[in-house]
Amino acid sequence: MTLRDELASIVSVTGVAHVEFREQIASTNDLALEQCCSKDLPTPLLVLTDRQTAGRGRGKNQWQASPGALTFSLVVDPQQLQLDSENWPLISLSAGVAVCEVLERLAQSNAFHLKWPNDIFVNDGKISGILVEVSPSLGRRVVVGIGINVNNSFQHADGEQSFPAISLADVTQRQWEIRDVLTEVTRSVLAKLTDLVEGKGEIVAAMNQRCYLNGREVVIALGKNQIRGSCLGIDPQGALLVSTQAGTRRVYGGVVQSFSPNR
Ligand code: BTN
Repeated sequence: MTLRDELASIVSVTGVAHVEFREQIASTNDLALEQCCSKDLPTPLLVLTDRQTAGRGRGKNQWQASPGALTFSLVVDPQQLQLDSENWPLISLSAGVAVCEVLERLAQSNAFHLKWPNDIFVNDGKISGILVEVSPSLGRRVVVGIGINVNNSFQHADGEQSFPAISLADVTQRQWEIRDVLTEVTRSVLAKLTDLVEGKGEIVAAMNQRCYLNGREVVIALGKNQIRGSCLGIDPQGALLVSTQAGTRRVYGGVVQSFSPNR
């Protein structure tokens, strides 16, 4: 069965209000942001594609999805989830923890780590990336874009990037039903967001437990500035703690440009 054939069952299993499906699309986040302009947008909305051709990542990153990858975006209404804007930064971390927990469960492994704010690494390769964006439209919505390498193997790829990519199939040595990974992840992300206010402490603890950068030397681009230092973990508000020459900095935004290979 193709994803298109499974849309009704995806709605009933995940509890999303609607699925917007395209066989091929440049970026599910772009379509999700467009959908946010519609007045009667049903949320949570799932924007799903079989083939994303120009996926965007954080900062100047791109997200390349070869066949077998899972790419989708969830549009959520923070008001519906009773999330004040002060908690919005935690949306991205919650989504990262949710995806990580599902991958751990599927692979039956605790080797998955979260690279702040929400990339997922396993065996020193990137398996998943998450891009959270806030729609500029009135009645602001939050778009959580998720890319997971599921069946697209990188075992024979040349390692020219700064770090290698890896897939669930590479880790588990078996193929997966994309639909099953999608429904598990969607359910888990929505459940985490629903419990975010009460579960804040647990999310930060889960993040710290899996923090890939802890103890590594990091360089973070923040606008035109750079922050360099040693990573101390994540603080209760979800900021990255970096020990610099000028003292400990709390980093709420920015892009991790590089990190040392060893702790
Ligand atoms: C990153 O690695 O910096 C984040 C990557 C996020 C990729 C996902 S794939 C689905 C959604 N649509 C996009 O264009 N990007 C996100």
